[in-house]
Amino acid sequence: MAEIDLMDKLVSLCKRRGFVFQSSEIYGGTGSVWDYGPLGVELKRAIKDAWWKAMVLERDDIEGLDAAILMHPRVWEASGHVEGFTDPLVECRECRRRFRADLPELEGGRCPVCGTPDAFGEPRLFNLMFKTFMGPVEDAASQVYLRPETAQGIYVNFLNVQTASRQKIPFGIAQIGKAFRNEITPGNFIFRTREFEQAEMQYFVEPGTDEEWFEYWKEARFQWHLSLGIRREKLRFHEHTPQELAHYAKKAVDIEYEFPFGWKEFEGIHNRTDFDLSRHQEYSGKRLEYIDAPANKRFIPYVIETSVGVDRTLLVVLADAYREEMVEGEERVVLSLKPALAPIKVAVFPLVKKDGLPEIAERIHKELRAAAVSSFYDDSGSIGRRYRRQDEAGTPWCVTVDGQTHQDGTVTIRDRDTLQQVRVPAEGVLKWVRERLA
Ligand code: GAP
Repeated sequence: MAEIDLMDKLVSLCKRRGFVFQSSEIYGGTGSVWDYGPLGVELKRAIKDAWWKAMVLERDDIEGLDAAILMHPRVWEASGHVEGFTDPLVECRECRRRFRADLPELEGGRCPVCGTPDAFGEPRLFNLMFKTFMGPVEDAASQVYLRPETAQGIYVNFLNVQTASRQKIPFGIAQIGKAFRNEITPGNFIFRTREFEQAEMQYFVEPGTDEEWFEYWKEARFQWHLSLGIRREKLRFHEHTPQELAHYAKKAVDIEYEFPFGWKEFEGIHNRTDFDLSRHQEYSGKRLEYIDAPANKRFIPYVIETSVGVDRTLLVVLADAYREEMVEGEERVVLSLKPALAPIKVAVFPLVKKDGLPEIAERIHKELRAAAVSSFYDDSGSIGRRYRRQDEAGTPWCVTVDGQTHQDGTVTIRDRDTLQQVRVPAEGVLKWVRERLA
């Protein structure tokens, strides 16, 4: 399968099966904004839950936070985003299309849309933050920004969280939330969009221990991606060159995935030093030092940040799980999602719509639902078609109630990946599934 083809196939599967829709599609769509449908919202939630579990619930040293998207405008002056969160932009003198000046397609100076040679002048810097107004008056004094990263909500709450939780350094604060960037050239489906979600954690450490913690988090985050079932050979690190480093970072490493359109970042681990807290201390006039009473020390902590895009992770998970296979002379499309991530865990079918089989199937389906195991009941079409539909949705197990159920009380459970079927007592289905989800 050509790699570029794979992207088209994924986009089409996402729409067909209700993972991702184009935003405002009936109006022709909005530029690079996407909506998550019934299966997409479950997959996204499962990814966020897995992150929250690993980063907050399973740890004593990390606290959660949910800060607002709108913040005091001075935050973005202090953080350096008003001045420095820019991309170089060029405009074609003929068709007036605008591009990020560093796009490889622009090499040689020819416009990739209208073909005009020597189409571009000097790049100008374009700030990526969305602006809006707070309150009824639209003037400079009421201008606010939609946050371009969730991290600043953590920095301004650093002392609030530390005081309330009585955490001692080293400790972290984690949050998941929307971020907005007015990207000049968004694209590649949900890879680069203007509205997206980030899962970020800021780990506050004593200066001098930052390099050690950087290595710790780099490794921990790589392991987390493996725990989602992503293939090891499709993941790699990329260390930023001095030219690539963001304005706040002393050192940065990306975790990259080999997407159908090449190796690209989907998580960044950054050593942000004391840059952000020092700047907020300076701009707010409030002390943001940590007091280490037993050691009789006070200092502004250094920060190791882990920042992963939720939407990009979802694209990684889908691209990594997508397979086309021949099964008994027929092609099938299957999403080999890790069961814990699958939007539907179990599909329940009566083999035929008679002889009391639907009633037994519905009973199993309801029992699963009541236990919060997402289950889908389907009695329409041939059994083969019903399996195919669930393969495409990534459902790990299909339960079929058939004639033998009346004789010995068992049903079949078919495994999505191995296609093997086992017979299990109908009352034992929930237990069987739970054991495999644990
Ligand atoms: N707080 C640090 C920060 O925001 P970043 O490398 O700019 O660092 C972190 O972004 C992650 O956020 C990226 O690795 C990516 O997964 C996600 N991200 C950034 N811009 C995005 C966009 N326009 N669309 C989708 N995801 C994006």
